[in-house]
Amino acid sequence: MRAYRGTILHCLDDPGEQSNPSAWEHFDDGLLIVDEGKIARVGEADALLADAGDDVDVVDYRGKLIVPGFIDCHVHFSQLDIIGSFGAQLLDWLNQYAFPEEAKFADAGHAREVAKVFVEELLRNGTTTALVFGTVHAHSADAIFEAAEAKSMRLIAGKVLMDTHCPAELRDDPESAYADSKALIEKWHGRGRLGYAITPRFALTSSAGQLAAAGRLAAEYPDVWVHTHLAENMEEVEEIARLYPDSRSYLDVYDGFELLRKRSVFAHCLHMDAVDRSTMAAKHGAAAFCPTSNLFLGSGLFDLPRMREAGIHCGLGTDVGGGTSLSLLRTASEAYKVLHLQEHALPAMRALYLATLGAAEALDLDDCIGNFAAGKEADFVVLDYEGSALTARRMAAAETIEEKLFALMTLADDRNVAATYILGRLSD
Ligand code: GUN
Ligand code: ZN
Repeated sequence: MRAYRGTILHCLDDPGEQSNPSAWEHFDDGLLIVDEGKIARVGEADALLADAGDDVDVVDYRGKLIVPGFIDCHVHFSQLDIIGSFGAQLLDWLNQYAFPEEAKFADAGHAREVAKVFVEELLRNGTTTALVFGTVHAHSADAIFEAAEAKSMRLIAGKVLMDTHCPAELRDDPESAYADSKALIEKWHGRGRLGYAITPRFALTSSAGQLAAAGRLAAEYPDVWVHTHLAENMEEVEEIARLYPDSRSYLDVYDGFELLRKRSVFAHCLHMDAVDRSTMAAKHGAAAFCPTSNLFLGSGLFDLPRMREAGIHCGLGTDVGGGTSLSLLRTASEAYKVLHLQEHALPAMRALYLATLGAAEALDLDDCIGNFAAGKEADFVVLDYEGSALTARRMAAAETIEEKLFALMTLADDRNVAATYILGRLSD
């Protein structure tokens, strides 16, 4: 058994806008005991050390902060090299930047090279699990799964389905989309820590026939994820309304094709009404809140309080390359600003929840990751308050754990990630 000594913090529930202290647990001098890759115990160091005897080997992270590994609920590995592309909103951005970049993934070697770097970047930022878009090419899914498997990461991904409103070289068709996705499910879903997501890009780039095929596949494999974009940009929403005049809303289009169910994860969800929110909650769909992307692409402001009040599970997503950082700390900082613009607060503890346990709930993985409950997988991050000169100075002026975490989420980046552990093993 191995134990990690340091300040330990994890969420037990959603702390909400009032930062409810019973929703999180904090040990200033804490100990996290790991046995065979799983959490054995967490608590005060003195008490646990007195109990544990000589058979634990203690790694000393005193002065640092240990939190559960971050979970990215929505990201595109193929867009790593177009982060920060200037000047366009969603539909133009797709045509100008995303589609040409994704066309490069016709080359399987390129897909493998980017997947490897992408996974390394996730880990460097403290992200231990992600829900990932591939490209239309089936081998893009192979590439990201192989890269995650090499690091023993828990990761969900899928080949993108797109057969209309996009360049010819990026199109599949309903039959090949169904057959390729099915073969990938059989190959990867449930292999080690990997899971498959049926991934129609969005209702604009999948024909009705293809959305129907995706719905049939989802019905055949109820424990596979469904991953798509929803109601991100007003022009997109208007286009969907023109294409589907009989649907009540954008969400209703997906629902009509049986794509709204448990383990359906929708990125963005910016332009929804109360009926959509209650339908999404009732059918157990989840939302990925992608603040850096929503600001960068000028898409809109995610209404976290209303989504949570409706009972929808929400987690943070980086949405790279529309998003501007793979760091969930940077993402949490932008989430704070998005809520502030709507006259709401995002306390640091709630932000931590959205990046850990809340995200695990959104992905329906909270039985195995998201906090330090005994028996969960030991994926965790060691944060260094002194990762940069500025964070070191700022921490000297912070007193409570909430102040320190808030200053970290406002200022920190990958320099403040001292170590990332996967199943209790230090990732290199
Ligand atoms: N909607 C459809 N495709 C995409 C994408 O690649 N990025 C974002 N942000 N939104 C999308
Ligand atoms: Zn996206």
